[in-house]
Amino acid sequence: MSTTPLFKGSDVERLRRAGEAAAGTLAYVAGKLTPGITTADIDGWVREDTERRGGRPSQLGYHGFPATVCTSRNNVVCHGIPRPDEQVLPGDIINVDVTTCLDGFHGDTSATFLIGEVSDEARHVVDVARRCRDIGISVVRHGARMGDIGAAIQELAEREGCSVVREFGGHGIGRSMHGPPHVPHFGTRGTGLTLRSGMVITIEPMINLGREDIRTLPDGWTIVTADGSLSAQFEHTVLVTREGCEILTPSPF
Ligand code: MF3
Ligand code: CO
Ligand code: CO
Repeated sequence: MSTTPLFKGSDVERLRRAGEAAAGTLAYVAGKLTPGITTADIDGWVREDTERRGGRPSQLGYHGFPATVCTSRNNVVCHGIPRPDEQVLPGDIINVDVTTCLDGFHGDTSATFLIGEVSDEARHVVDVARRCRDIGISVVRHGARMGDIGAAIQELAEREGCSVVREFGGHGIGRSMHGPPHVPHFGTRGTGLTLRSGMVITIEPMINLGREDIRTLPDGWTIVTADGSLSAQFEHTVLVTREGCEILTPSPF
């Protein structure tokens, strides 16, 4: 389907439950992140916790993706594949991106975590990425334009000396993990699709400390910064409403 679906009633209730499950699993993992664990440990925790909540990890097998969760560490922008030989060490930053399918609907959320003592630069890019997601969410309402979201995010990122990844954006979500519309995290106010109440989208800016350019590793999945700089990301799934939006993946992050 190329048009964006509008959700109401019991579908919204099911989207809330899927979103809460994804957010709950992210919080569960967050409580277990400690130096010395591996990203494969995170994959196992997401698998177990998602099942405990009655859900299924949406990412597993998606276009052949080999894991239940994306774990993107330091210079990895997104789509990092958990591995038993990849340890999480003091000074690292790591994004954990959880997508859960529950009762036919998907919820998608991520956060970037600081492991032990990290550099000021690492703290900065993580802080900017969180603020970029939140300022994007703050402009969402019925009648806003897609470019309003992108412009708010891009201005904040660039004012803070960071850059916005262009090749990936947020997306519509509901009965599928990924659907229309595409949600760019850069752009021009007053342009693009007009948001309508009942649309469900993700906002998930990928923010680089250095240049915006990216590269794909030979595994075909892992996206890294071209200049090797740190990258951070936060993501929520939100329901567009008349007055603003409802965050469907509520968490402390
Ligand atoms: N959760 C990711 C997103 O925010 C989707 C990753 S697709 C995968 O859209 F196949 F890499 F898992
Ligand atoms: Co997403
Ligand atoms: Co995600």
